[in-house]
Amino acid sequence: MASEIKNRECAVLKFEGKEVELPVVTGTEGDKALDIRALRSETGLVTIDPGFVNTASCRSQITYIDGERGILRYRGIPIEELVKKSTFVDVAYLLVHGTLPTAQERLDFSSMLNLNSLIHEDMRRFFDHFPQGAHPMHILSTMINAMAAFYPNVDINTTTANIEQSCARVISIVRTIAAFAYKKSIGEPIVYPRHDLSYCANFLNMMFDSPVRPYHISPETVRLLNVLFILHADHEQNCSTSAVRVIGSAQVNLYATISAGISALSGPLHGGANQAVIEQLKIIHKDGDVNKFINMAKDKNSPFRLMGFGHRVYKSYDPRAAIIRKECENYLNRIGSSDPLLETARKLEDAALKDPYFIERSLYPNVDFYTGILYRAMGIPENMFTVMFALARLPGWVAHWREMIGDSTKIVRPRQLYIGRTLQEIGDELESRSSTFLL
Ligand code: CMC
Repeated sequence: MASEIKNRECAVLKFEGKEVELPVVTGTEGDKALDIRALRSETGLVTIDPGFVNTASCRSQITYIDGERGILRYRGIPIEELVKKSTFVDVAYLLVHGTLPTAQERLDFSSMLNLNSLIHEDMRRFFDHFPQGAHPMHILSTMINAMAAFYPNVDINTTTANIEQSCARVISIVRTIAAFAYKKSIGEPIVYPRHDLSYCANFLNMMFDSPVRPYHISPETVRLLNVLFILHADHEQNCSTSAVRVIGSAQVNLYATISAGISALSGPLHGGANQAVIEQLKIIHKDGDVNKFINMAKDKNSPFRLMGFGHRVYKSYDPRAAIIRKECENYLNRIGSSDPLLETARKLEDAALKDPYFIERSLYPNVDFYTGILYRAMGIPENMFTVMFALARLPGWVAHWREMIGDSTKIVRPRQLYIGRTLQEIGDELESRSSTFLL
């Protein structure tokens, strides 16, 4: 297996008259990193990097991103290839196991997903007690956390001894819970998973089949869902994956770990953006004045941001957004439908990409910008958009969790720079307070 190259190169840091050599490590794609692990013992210094803007929190073999050139590869394979030739289940296998499956491995993995697709019947009653209108992301994270109570052998040793089943169960069951949560929210009877259907077809069927209106599973919709899920399947150390690694590093059970990832993903700056984009596009479409919103996004006195724009890593067009925009246009053409929000989105993108504010900051549409329009066309309700992201990201989280527990990684425990009051500064106050306590 490929790993980073240790070379003799090093950077020299001069501090308080002392010279310290910091080794440079090079990744397999040539990226270089400074290994600062000995910095504190050598100099007493820690590094400070809020938001981990320039910190590699781990070494990973799963996903490669070149944000400057708009490149995204899973296990070395470009996403453009994967969306053309693979299914989401293939990609899930690829992320979790490291290689694309052989025909036999695909069969085994698919049957393991099927065998682990049902939730414990007693968990069904949980759905009755969420209030009307509860967001499905909240239901999803709660239900996944509760799974540890229903499948109690979840300590790290038992989980790793049954790693294949543990991974398959969580990937499969999240889909069932998501569809059940939706059915409950609209007051319809739940639809159970079927072994004869593929992963994505099964999900669509659980969402839309009804006793009075059998659902016709369109191969085109299944293909599109596979494409969208593949494009969302992993994105290296994003906020939710980092949450999974941080929580998992304390050897918390897999369900609680994934539940933490789901919670992180729900935020509007992360996976919640796909729902926020549509809500924003509706407002802009109704108003009709695209430039007014571009100006609001540029105004530093306004908290308004263009949702679905900008990315921590991509400083060029997000390669996922490029594929989704094309799929979106083609799909709407093929089904002979139009969505006024697509027109508004195009106008917004055109205006932003010509504007110096967006050019100088390298702000381009991200994966969330066109996704919601495609989900709308497929009949997915808006409050399920972020849930769709979570289902798709499951294999990525599981792959990172598996890589993390297989590494000799320590519990994640960053340092800080304390900037609060000193003992000297609060001396008098401390004295007066302690006498109060003595009274
Ligand atoms: N609209 C207007 N200005 C923006 C935007 C935006 N969407 N995004 C960034 N900027 C500006 C920001 O104000 C800052 O300007 P200045 O340098 O003058 O202070 C500059 O661009 C850099 O932004 P940042 O917030 O420091 O960048 P970041 O890397 O910390 O944040 C981001 C990345 C994705 C959170 C941010 O671009 C954003 O809030 N985007 C909108 C929400 C969104 O679409 N999120 C989905 C991200 S992709 C999928 C996912 O991760 O789930």
